[in-house]
Amino acid sequence: MCGIVAYIGPREAYPVIMKGLKRLEYRGYDSAGVALLDKHNLRVFKKQGRVAVLEESIIGEDLHAHAGIGHTRWATHGEPSDRNAHPHLSASGRLAMIHNGIIENYAQLKTELTKKGYHFKSDTDTEVLLNFIEDIQENNQCSLEESLRIALKRVTGAYVIVLLDRNHPDTLIAARKGSPLVIGIGKGEHFLASDASPIIEYTKEVVYVNDYELAIIKCDELILKNLGNEKITPFVQKLDLELTAIEKGGYDHFMLKEIFEQPDTIFDCLRGRLDAAKGTITMAGVQNNLDKLSQAKRIIMVACGTSWHAGLIAEYIFEEICRIPVEVEYASEFRYRNPVIHPGDVIIAISQSGETADTIVAIEKAKEQGAFIFGVVNVVGSSIARISDAGAYTHAGPEIGVASTKAFTAQLVVLILIALKIAHEKQTLSDERYMMLLSELHAIPEKVKELLHSSRHIRKLAEKYKGVSDALYLGRGNNFPVALEGALKLKEISYIHAEGYPAAEMKHGPIALVDEQLPVVFAAPKSVYHEKLISNIQEIKARKGMVLAVISEGDDVIAKMADDIMTVPLTDELISPLLSVIPLQLFACYLGMAKGFDVDKPRNLAKSVTVE
Ligand code: G6P
Repeated sequence: MCGIVAYIGPREAYPVIMKGLKRLEYRGYDSAGVALLDKHNLRVFKKQGRVAVLEESIIGEDLHAHAGIGHTRWATHGEPSDRNAHPHLSASGRLAMIHNGIIENYAQLKTELTKKGYHFKSDTDTEVLLNFIEDIQENNQCSLEESLRIALKRVTGAYVIVLLDRNHPDTLIAARKGSPLVIGIGKGEHFLASDASPIIEYTKEVVYVNDYELAIIKCDELILKNLGNEKITPFVQKLDLELTAIEKGGYDHFMLKEIFEQPDTIFDCLRGRLDAAKGTITMAGVQNNLDKLSQAKRIIMVACGTSWHAGLIAEYIFEEICRIPVEVEYASEFRYRNPVIHPGDVIIAISQSGETADTIVAIEKAKEQGAFIFGVVNVVGSSIARISDAGAYTHAGPEIGVASTKAFTAQLVVLILIALKIAHEKQTLSDERYMMLLSELHAIPEKVKELLHSSRHIRKLAEKYKGVSDALYLGRGNNFPVALEGALKLKEISYIHAEGYPAAEMKHGPIALVDEQLPVVFAAPKSVYHEKLISNIQEIKARKGMVLAVISEGDDVIAKMADDIMTVPLTDELISPLLSVIPLQLFACYLGMAKGFDVDKPRNLAKSVTVE
């Protein structure tokens, strides 16, 4: 979490940085700040709240500079406040620094520095690291670069840091371990950011900095080094990203835009991969490792948040058609549990951002134990994409709304394609069903388009239910994780307490909550569970609960029983979550909007969780 932007070059740094910070606000929005350096004149402006609040507060200030650093914060150490906002200044006032990550041994370093007489203006780990760097520099009379190298060898945790030195206005110094850093290379200028979105309108040439690398950046020079002071040749890549992809395109909110983009994103995800007529699935990452994947003794899906829900749905699909046992793990639990990994185990790491700290470490742990890592990632060139042994991109395009929507359905599509390919290879699926599933999958983008036509109806439902304080989401089979995802979306976006549960398990607890105040949302497209779900709905109605059901077109039975329905086109039940989740995304989004919340930036959340 936290977004960082920096600039050095002939342009005015301030507008470049502010525009960039606004694009990165999805990474955190507790406070924002900027440090500007011009001819040894170093100024820091920072403010609690959104980037717009900072902008407003410094109208009329001298903002002229050709080098600067900016930060938008998701608080870890220290409450959101002006004082804890970045950039921080060193004790001498000579250095300014921004930081994304957590310095885990900051308390120890702080004690050492306090004994030496240092006082701290903030509660942050960042200020500790900054003074630690300055202290080393003063004691060793060495360059900033050298002191940074020494400091980082003592530091545990994750970081991207960027430093400005008042005495060297021609240089930015940055370092990375565990948090993302992209450097854009322009003509006589450089741009630094947590992702490429602040950079694309200026240049498409970028370098993704790796862990344990330092970057020394001047207007027309970029030097990369490792912590051993050896130079590394920067690997310059071309960005495959258009500006329009990160703009709202006529929608009021990114979340809404991203929900409505799903016919296209699913299509893009299938394009070039699925040929339903010929019965082929082309995915190089899968094809090149088909032996490993199809002979896997066990598949372990590792992910967090919404991506974890995609893994849960995939568990049903892989077990059903590939006959491979699957476990789905929260990356944060898996990494610390000393998990048992056997040769022949395959890890599928699922991540939109490719930067989630827990998922990264979980992969690294599994890799150490010899597991084969397959990444299902959205952000091209991200850390998880790079550390995986093989993978498949989800091609959903930039997802800016903090709550994941289009990335989730794209993850499902990729996971379904992988499962189908393995099942076909293993012959655990009849050719007839294989061909039928391929053609159903091919039809999904059109069906998503069709179901989105009912958005007005869903908006009305959101108005109707906006006053509730709790909701229960239920589903069975691979629509149980859809219920979890629906509940997660609702609580993230509308701050209504919601729980997802397997519909049958509801009798072992949540049924106690059911009364006329409680909406119970069923993810109930046509499936083998239909009759069982009808019984569950009866159980809710018998206790006067309100039933809101996502059902397949033509399902008159549930339609008659439920208080309200949201319909989705019919498809094979194996892939039905691709449709059934979308009304729930819309419902949460409209409900959040109806309550007047910023659905793109829900409180306390961040899109990319780069701290554990
Ligand atoms: C955060 C986001 C979620 C996302 C989760 C995992 O909590 O708000 O939308 O599902 O992180 O992120 P990842 O990028 O690894 O999919």
